[in-house]
Amino acid sequence: MEEVPGSNPGTPIGRVAQLVRAPVSHTGGRRFESSRAHLPRIKDISLSIIGKKRIEWAFSRMPVLRSIMEDYKDDKPLEGIRIAACLHVTTETASLMIVLKTLGADIRLCASNPLSTQDDVAATLVKDYNIEVFAVRGENQEDYYSDIHSCLEFKPHITLDDGADLTVEAHRHGYWKDILGGTEETTTGVNRFRKMEEEGVLKYPIIAVNDSYTKYLFDNRYGTGQSTVDGVLRATNILLAGKTAVVAGYGWVGKGIAMRLKGMGCRVVITEVDPVKALEAYMDGYDVKPMIEAIREADIVITATGEPDIVRKEHIEVAKDGVILANAGHFDVEINKGDLNELSEERREIRSNLEEYRLKDGRRVYLLAEGRLVNLGAAEGHPAEVMDMSFSNQALAVLYIKDNHDDLENRVYKLPDELDYEVARRKLASLGVVIDQPSEAQLKRSWVEGT
Ligand code: NAD
Ligand code: ADE
Repeated sequence: MEEVPGSNPGTPIGRVAQLVRAPVSHTGGRRFESSRAHLPRIKDISLSIIGKKRIEWAFSRMPVLRSIMEDYKDDKPLEGIRIAACLHVTTETASLMIVLKTLGADIRLCASNPLSTQDDVAATLVKDYNIEVFAVRGENQEDYYSDIHSCLEFKPHITLDDGADLTVEAHRHGYWKDILGGTEETTTGVNRFRKMEEEGVLKYPIIAVNDSYTKYLFDNRYGTGQSTVDGVLRATNILLAGKTAVVAGYGWVGKGIAMRLKGMGCRVVITEVDPVKALEAYMDGYDVKPMIEAIREADIVITATGEPDIVRKEHIEVAKDGVILANAGHFDVEINKGDLNELSEERREIRSNLEEYRLKDGRRVYLLAEGRLVNLGAAEGHPAEVMDMSFSNQALAVLYIKDNHDDLENRVYKLPDELDYEVARRKLASLGVVIDQPSEAQLKRSWVEGT
């Protein structure tokens, strides 16, 4: 194994091994064969010169992930374990792959979105870290799925997913038989797996990493909030101050985006279908309206619901000339591109990740990053500091599956709270933040005691 970049241990924090292994035994004595050789599919190996330094920079800002690597690197608990990962191929994902490899795993990585791959990162993983990557930015649907299959042909023991495409393909094509368990990074993927569980078709246990507190409260909110604004600005270079921005969905992602747009001087309008979330948005100080009204006044619309057709024909028909449409939800289904095409007579690329649709009535609509996740298509995704927590949960989930799969059913599980809280503790320690401990009296206080 090559030297791992940025692998200084940072602030010393206690071992997590005890927590991961606590509930049950090891892999039940199963033996794992080593991987077969296979040719990676990447854009250009010479890009690795750029990728290596960028990965080092990200890794240097991921102290919790590094601390987990330090805890386990001598024991190599993942030796003999094959991992197939379908994640956005970014510098942060590279850091996770390097840690899992350092812990002994054999890895294949493909993209979880055709437009999010950073080709320099893919090149570096292949050239400098001997990790097999199958991903090229801008790949078509056929290549996207063929890359997923290259990862499944590896006969993985554990799958890492962001959006569920890898796991669904494993189910559809019979690859699930050897798989011990999988993880899922995002809300849409977890929702897909919950449906599979309800229908009784889920064939192996899934750890919903998204549902850890140290994931969704930070990644979905602050990560997407910042990186979505970053994507909009890189694609357009517009002034946000004074603009009317509509955010569809006031879940964790929508909250983060709305908060950051407000901070940049936008007047923010929220659309929702959930009355509680709508009320929350209203009391947080936002206007709340149905999309058909909100879009009439919108300079920018950003979707963050995970649902299809949030912006569709009837909305485009009443949108202001020059409206900018972007999506932060997992799939490119939230802005109906079919409707946009149907209403348009001309389409041209204005800047990178910015396309102009000229409608038949002369109005113009601007679509960012093909309606795919704008923060990963037009920017670099969440900053490393926040992916530190998401991917520490991923690393702990892999170890947890490896140690506990015999005791798990074919269901969707949260990562145990003690591991989630350990990530929070380590993140605080790395930031130099000290918190209070409950006193003896507080711990001993009984329910009998009132005022
Ligand atoms: P969430 O479940 O917390 O929030 C979704 C919200 O959308 C809910 O409040 C729901 O009521 C609302 N909604 C549903 N249908 C709607 C409609 N027709 N109109 C308006 N609102 C509607 O989910 P989340 O964690 O906020 O994730 C949202 C999406 O973003 C998912 O697809 C998720 O996978 C994705 N995601 C993307 C990134 C990224 O990097 N871009 C990061 C995390 C999550
Ligand atoms: N999802 C959102 N941001 C990401 C990042 N930087 N790396 C991997 N997955 C992500």
